[in-house]
Amino acid sequence: QPETEATAHARSVVQAVQAAALKLTILYGSHTGRSEGLAKKLRSLLAEKTIAADVFSMDDYNTKQLEQEQNLLVIVSTHGEGEPPQMAEDFHRFITGKRAPKLPNLNFSVLALGDKSYKLFCQTGIEIDHALKKAGAHELFPIVTCDVDYEEDATIWMDAILEKLAEHLPAAVQPVPAVIKAEEAVVYNQKNPFRATVLEKVKITGRDSDKEVNHVELSLDGSGISYQPGDSLGILADNPPVLVAQIIQTLKLDGQASVVLKKKEFTLENALRHQLEITVLNRGVVQHYAEKTALPGVQQLLDDEKLLDEYLWGHDVLDLLQDFPHELSEQELADLLRPLPPRLYSISSSQELVGDEVHITVSTVRYSNKGRERHGAASTYLADRIEVDQEIPVYIERNPGFRLPENEETPIIMVGAGTGIAPYRAFLQHREANNLKGKSWLFFGERHFQSDFLYQLEWQKYLKKGLLEKIDLAFSRDQDQKIYVQHRLAERQAEIFEWLENGASFYLCGDMKYMAKDVQKTLLDIIQNQGGMTEDQARDYFKKLKKEKRFQADVY
Ligand code: 2AM
Repeated sequence: QPETEATAHARSVVQAVQAAALKLTILYGSHTGRSEGLAKKLRSLLAEKTIAADVFSMDDYNTKQLEQEQNLLVIVSTHGEGEPPQMAEDFHRFITGKRAPKLPNLNFSVLALGDKSYKLFCQTGIEIDHALKKAGAHELFPIVTCDVDYEEDATIWMDAILEKLAEHLPAAVQPVPAVIKAEEAVVYNQKNPFRATVLEKVKITGRDSDKEVNHVELSLDGSGISYQPGDSLGILADNPPVLVAQIIQTLKLDGQASVVLKKKEFTLENALRHQLEITVLNRGVVQHYAEKTALPGVQQLLDDEKLLDEYLWGHDVLDLLQDFPHELSEQELADLLRPLPPRLYSISSSQELVGDEVHITVSTVRYSNKGRERHGAASTYLADRIEVDQEIPVYIERNPGFRLPENEETPIIMVGAGTGIAPYRAFLQHREANNLKGKSWLFFGERHFQSDFLYQLEWQKYLKKGLLEKIDLAFSRDQDQKIYVQHRLAERQAEIFEWLENGASFYLCGDMKYMAKDVQKTLLDIIQNQGGMTEDQARDYFKKLKKEKRFQADVY
């Protein structure tokens, strides 16, 4: 018998009251949009069970509220060498610090996102988990740590959370039937990528460059995909066939033999081409190999951090198999390797200017080591194995930590080395398309003016139009002494500080290991010198910039 309006109303009131008794907060923090996407997914799963949850990005969350929380679900990634992503820095410092409150009335659980190729895997999530336990909070479900193929583990965690929370709900509460939603557009993601047609591929480094950078334009026509300046494009590439053949040959295996990966069957060759990571070597693989083979040489690598780091650098799976030979079956080889993660490229276009297209700027990874040519998976996929008119699987990876200022006319200072220039092309295209008048200043570094001045004509056009107010260039190898972007920043320090004092936002994109650290250090020096500050004051000024999202970095 159909419910009358009145009984339906009464039922929903009861449920609302019961569900309200369950206060729940989801906090997310990651450098990409992954944790945000998961947080929102969890919220809608909870909503189906009539449980309401508040979702906050960690940098928008007031930690004073912690003591009022009853159920806290944390989804957080780890950046680089075990560091919290920028958006999680303050929360992480607070909860792991001396001033963290006691939280005896709190239930919590942590989902940690990470990358097993780093030594400190999921470190930030692990530290937050420890800190919450130390504060006396009660663990709803043990921490789940996920590698780059995070979806499955994340689902396990979410299901467990839903089950645990259901125990806290009165039995009378039945899940309300799912509300019929207006037809939703297909969501493309890592699991369900969109097949984008390659419209154009142009090498934009000169003939005599030591580098090879391709500008690639793809069609999003018919996908309904939208992206913002600052977002990245995820590409599901395949591996170089030469390396696949060499691995199969070295182990004397049958490429047509079948192997099983996550319950699905593939030929070994297919698995190595499309499913598994082989062009880089990570510690997880070395670990598995040591366990499988018990070879003392492999164990020695694992026993010495420094030795292991050196060995991993510039080596691939074939090196390990050749340097420490051991017989493996097709399936054993497959079990050794991890799923091929998507590669992310900063998008170099603005949809408002290019419509149904997305552009990326890709530096091709090719080098030779131990007499063997090495090829990066995604970059040589785009450079060598894909032609115009072919389709490639892509999806958008949001990058909420790298956004143009909310006030669209705020001045911006953009610092980029190499392909780190890509998002700034998107920024200026956005301002061009919307006729925005904010001032902008670009610092760009590469090796040689003649061959490596990426998008030179476009910057000149923007200068002429007044969309770009200034450009400063650092060509590191056009003279005896290296000149880097940070040297140019230092030369212009009075003006940089003036721009900052006038509210400018500062962006940094490029190599994480060296460039980003050096530029940050230079920026701190500039603030200290020009602001007449002590080191501590300069650091506080910098912290404030970060807090106000006026310092944003996209480093890799
Ligand atoms: P190099 O290769 O001559 O050392 C893009 O790769 C540009 O960044 C190149 O000009 C490169 O110079 C430069 N680069 C290398 N290390 C850097 C650092 N620590 N800081 C800034 N730029 C750097």
